[in-house]
Amino acid sequence: MISVPFVSLTVLLLNLVSLSPTFASPQYGSLAGLSTREWNELVPRLNQVDPPNPPGPLQYNGTKLVHDSAHPFKAPRQGDIRGPCPGLNTLANHGYLPHNGVASPSQIINAVQEGFNMEHSTAVFLTHAAHIVDGNLVTDLLSIGEKTKKTGPDPPAPATVGGLNTHAVFEGDASMTRADFSFGDNHSFNQTLFDQFVDFSNGYGGGFYDYTVAAELRFQRIQESIATNPRFSFVAPRYFTAYAESVFPVNFFVDGRSTEKKLDMEAATLFFRDGKYPTDFHRAAQPSGNEGVEMVFFAHPIAPGGNRDDKINNYVLDPTSADFDNFCLLYTNFVNQTIRGLYPNPTGILRRNLIKNLGFFYSGIAGAGCEELFPYGKL
Ligand code: HEM
Ligand SMILES: *[C@@H]1O[C@H](CO)[C@@H](O)[C@H](O)[C@H]1NC(C)=O
Ligand SMILES: *[C@@H]1O[C@H](CO)[C@@H](O)[C@H](O)[C@H]1NC(C)=O
Ligand SMILES: *[C@@H]1O[C@H](CO)[C@@H](O)[C@H](O)[C@H]1NC(C)=O
Ligand SMILES: *[C@@H]1O[C@H](CO)[C@@H](O)[C@H](O)[C@H]1NC(C)=O
Repeated sequence: MISVPFVSLTVLLLNLVSLSPTFASPQYGSLAGLSTREWNELVPRLNQVDPPNPPGPLQYNGTKLVHDSAHPFKAPRQGDIRGPCPGLNTLANHGYLPHNGVASPSQIINAVQEGFNMEHSTAVFLTHAAHIVDGNLVTDLLSIGEKTKKTGPDPPAPATVGGLNTHAVFEGDASMTRADFSFGDNHSFNQTLFDQFVDFSNGYGGGFYDYTVAAELRFQRIQESIATNPRFSFVAPRYFTAYAESVFPVNFFVDGRSTEKKLDMEAATLFFRDGKYPTDFHRAAQPSGNEGVEMVFFAHPIAPGGNRDDKINNYVLDPTSADFDNFCLLYTNFVNQTIRGLYPNPTGILRRNLIKNLGFFYSGIAGAGCEELFPYGKL
């Protein structure tokens, strides 16, 4: 019923679409929403890249020491970009990704496979979904965060990117350790929320974060949003993101030599707060993705919906959203609404690279049997 790779999609969609097209850093800023004039000015200054096919799966896909002498921790320096994802931050701090936080999709796929043993199709799907909405499709570069801090009320006001209302896409108050989408520095880690993560691990997991804790904390974060966020929106893709995020710490942050799927709080602190591997850390023992998500969901099933009429405690279901019974709708809406909203009428190299990236993105979920869409035609 729950088709695995789809769930991952959502982990990235939130921040990605929230990026403003006014970028200080054109080589990796998104090109979505540019006017023809802006486009004509910018493109000649960009390094135009023909995106390569994604790298394949790992040759050796078992556990191994990844916090080795070739990958020591180096804290981010001024100007380095870090984001809301503790996994990618860790990879950048240890040199599996470029230290400045800007990478190509191929570099990200290689890094999440090598450094965490993320399963190949999940890595491809996640990375290319992120790249299409957030990366620079001409230069083939993507940043793992954004230096600019989002300001304004929490939750952030609905933003329009390329004519698309992305409110439901990046509304992210139900994250575990991030209160909102301000990112790009260490302030995006919220100690109060992490304290709750620890409390729940103590209360439900005997001091460890496991799938049982994940289920309770996920439910708690949703309840908190319903009770405190008048504009809480919990529809696809955010709906899936929330559940996928919850199992990643169990699947990726537990040392691969451990036989128990439970994360101690020392390691959790290092990953979430500092983006740092524990001493001697070994990656997962097998290629991993969203294992455990069914357990988290079915412990407290909540259908997609949101607080209606800007009222707290007014959660109303939204039957138009994709849910765990309908993953292909998630793919279809993402391609046909989100991406087409960002890039209504691409031409030239942008169209070519969009078509290629949409194909890579689909290849990551081809196993789910959804009908592939070609909104920009074929090459
Ligand atoms: C494959 C490429 C990946 C991309 C593009 C990506 C992107 C993201 C983004 C945008 C978020 C923020 C979602 C939110 O605001 O709630 C996030 C959250 C998260 N990511 Fe990743 N991620 C990737 C891989 C990974 C890997 C390999 C791991 C683990 C090793 C990981 C672990 C997490 C966790 C635990 C969270 C939740 C943080 C929290 O709720 O406090 N991600 N990721
Ligand atoms: C891991 O590698 C082995 C040996 O090459 C292979 O048989 C197996 O299918 C791989 N597992 C996954 C999930 O890719
Ligand atoms: C951390 O999260 C809590 C709970 O959502 C919130 O009340 C607080 O304002 C956040 N702190 C910061 C610094 O964002
Ligand atoms: C966060 O960054 C500021 C400077 O930007 C630094 O002074 C502070 O020590 C950092 N906090 C942590 C927990 O790393
Ligand atoms: C995608 O959108 C187009 C135009 O709005 C529509 O004609 C088409 O049926 C949609 N495709 C799917 C699979 O929803």
